[in-house]
Amino acid sequence: MFPEEGAFVITGGNFFQNNYHERRDGFNILSAAASPSAFFDAAHHADFPRCHENTQLAVVEKIIDWIEGKSDTEASIMWLNGPARSGKSTISYTISNILHRRDALLATFFFSRMDSSRNHSRFLIPTLAYSIAVTCPGARPMIESVISNDPTILHQSPDNQLARLILDPLQRLQEAGIAYPHVIVIDGLDECLDISGQRAILDGISTMLARYRLPLKVLVASRSELVISSSFNTGTLCSNSIRQSLELQRRFDAWENPLFFFESYEPFKY
Ligand SMILES: Nc1ncnc2c1ncn2[C@@H]1O[C@H](COP(=O)(O)OP(=O)(O)OP(=O)(O)O)[C@@H](O)[C@H]1O
Ligand SMILES: [Mg+2]
Repeated sequence: MFPEEGAFVITGGNFFQNNYHERRDGFNILSAAASPSAFFDAAHHADFPRCHENTQLAVVEKIIDWIEGKSDTEASIMWLNGPARSGKSTISYTISNILHRRDALLATFFFSRMDSSRNHSRFLIPTLAYSIAVTCPGARPMIESVISNDPTILHQSPDNQLARLILDPLQRLQEAGIAYPHVIVIDGLDECLDISGQRAILDGISTMLARYRLPLKVLVASRSELVISSSFNTGTLCSNSIRQSLELQRRFDAWENPLFFFESYEPFKY
């Protein structure tokens, strides 16, 4: 039997049970802050459209080539942009599926302006960190410890969160020679309703990726709205990114889905 609480001192070794509980608290806090509906494989995405066979092949192949390091660029961020209904989310989803099957998908976040759990920047990093904790068992205890030691991390700047919850743990895996999936997909950044958050996300990702030099690739899909396009046209983001533009696709939808013409007509968009 243990003597009464506080009456003994443990020297040496690890009091694992205590650490375990602290870390589990960290994981619970993280999962409460994450937004499961933003995952590419969230239940409500089950009927999400995938690219019809032989559509957007060139774009999908170009993105996969870039991810696999087969294109002649060192850029670690790709901006998939195009007008409303041009197929950005369909491609993001298709790419996520392909990468998931190849064990190359680290985390995803699908913004949606109509869903209050995924239309604000504050959900992004906790959701990505949660996915990484689940996808990379080696990273999980590190992420949990950061949060249990400082739960306010989830209210700190995106840069702090990105560094401490995502990049530091991945760097430690890297240093230990542990492989991990390397692609993050962020869809619909224009649907993040806090505009300053859109800029902070892009600045944070580009600055931090340049600083850490991890083998990560980040696919960002959005409409070409001013804040986003000006972020991609300046600073580190400009030099560390490539872009892929889409035109409004009507060809396959015209035949396969007659409603497409109405859906794609701007006033019916939402
Ligand atoms: N390659 C494709 N194969 C099949 N359907 C497609 C394809 N691309 C687009 N579509 C159809 O067009 C619709 C609009 O596509 P999607 O939602 O991907 O556009 P988007 O560019 O993400 O639009 P938004 O800017 O509004 O988010 C989808 O509901 C889907 O039915
Ligand atoms: Mg979309």
